Amino acid sequence: MIKEELKASIAEKDACIGVIGLGYVGLPLIVEFCLKGFRGIGFEVDEKKAADINAGTSYIVDVKSDDVKKCTDNGKLTATTDFSQLSECDVIVICVPTPLRKTKDPDMSFIIAAGKQIQKYMRRGQLIVLESTTYPGTTDEVLLPMFEQNGFKLDEDFLLAFSPERVDPGNPQFQTHNIPKVVGGVSKDSTEAAAFLYSQVVETVHPVSSARVADACKLCENTFRAINIGMANEMAKVGNALGIDSWEVVKAAATKPFGFMAFYPGPGIGGHCIPLDPHYLSWKARQHGFDSQFISLAEQINSGMPAYVVKLIADALNEAEKSVKASKILILGVAYKKDIDDMRESPALSIIDLLRARGADLYYHDPFVPEVTFDHAYTIGDAEPLSNSALTDELIANSDCVVICTEHTDIDYGRICELAPLVVDTRNALGEDLRSCSKAKIVRL
Ligand SMILES: NC(=O)c1ccc[n+]([C@@H]2O[C@H](COP(=O)([O-])OP(=O)(O)OC[C@H]3O[C@@H](n4cnc5c(N)ncnc54)[C@H](O)[C@@H]3O)[C@@H](O)[C@H]2O)c1
Repeated sequence: MIKEELKASIAEKDACIGVIGLGYVGLPLIVEFCLKGFRGIGFEVDEKKAADINAGTSYIVDVKSDDVKKCTDNGKLTATTDFSQLSECDVIVICVPTPLRKTKDPDMSFIIAAGKQIQKYMRRGQLIVLESTTYPGTTDEVLLPMFEQNGFKLDEDFLLAFSPERVDPGNPQFQTHNIPKVVGGVSKDSTEAAAFLYSQVVETVHPVSSARVADACKLCENTFRAINIGMANEMAKVGNALGIDSWEVVKAAATKPFGFMAFYPGPGIGGHCIPLDPHYLSWKARQHGFDSQFISLAEQINSGMPAYVVKLIADALNEAEKSVKASKILILGVAYKKDIDDMRESPALSIIDLLRARGADLYYHDPFVPEVTFDHAYTIGDAEPLSNSALTDELIANSDCVVICTEHTDIDYGRICELAPLVVDTRNALGEDLRSCSKAKIVRL
């Protein structure tokens, strides 16, 4: 039985682990396996990423270059663009992107491209695990038939599972090894082998009855977040209308020891997960004649937040007898969340675009992002790239408005409150002490 053969080679750390896609998800995973003594081969389409890894350099904030170097120096880790090496792997984990098309339908092209590479170089005895977030059914409806086309039989020749990734970039407390892993195979043997594999590097593994349940689990988690953030954003708007501090409301509600979980408002949702994943679920639900209204409503509220922030900025400038047009506006933080460099779907991009379309004179400062390009934004206006500005006293003092879009830890907010005439804080980055002694006028979401 290939399950037993695989488990034995995993237990002996003889199994070679292939990871397709060395991004925020794939790189930490392969490094974790190699640090535990497995041989790992990373497969990339990006030659530069493969070269960086082979040179012992990490390009992901949460993965230390020291760890990559340790693994490349001892010969455990290599990265390649040569997919024929897939046949050397006993396990293949797929960690490629799953974006949305402009129509908000799932873009499965990356998973299919990875699947085709596997199909080309597959050999008997391999366990294939999909980790990319996707709609329930991808593993058994899309990948399984591809691998069976070679004449290979599930359980006899290969095993196939889905295991959602829950990595939280920038979170020092929870990393690959201590985030519980859900695993669901398209067969019992697949579940058992995949659960055994992850138990080598992850403290808690939670097997479920099928790959579809594992797919749906990930979408349930992220849809839960999207909907609750939507509610927090709506509460913030209601709070603004009623003159109530919604941050204080959530803080107070969070003292309830049961039945409440704190979610906070913000300028919109960003990253590769929360803005996208619920659409995978609603798309699949639509195929079955079901319209998921919670998801639509949350999307409507969350995607409207950048425009709402622009309205707050315009109103605050108006109070100061200024127009958005020609005002010098400094955006603080453009990454989608604090202390990381990821700008995918960042709401700051939409805010910049909307302000630019109104003729604002825009600058940004983000210690993690040297340049902003607008490939993924709404690209109203001319969409010229912007470069990071040094956070000088002069820049702060000469700005008509400073907008805190991302609350990076290393920014001196005291200096902002001291020097800026007007601050729009979308993240509650200015604590109560700063707010009370600020010389700047402060507007909070
Ligand atoms: N980033 C997160 O926080 C996070 C969290 C949980 C789940 N996910 C999910 O994990 C998946 C991967 O996300 P990510 O953030 O790591 O993406 P990423 O863009 O950081 O990395 C994906 C990598 O795959 C490479 N790639 C693309 N096509 C390829 C191919 N055919 N063969 C080999 N390599 C290929 C890209 O060059 C890139 O380096 C997505 O489905 C995402 O939704 C991401």
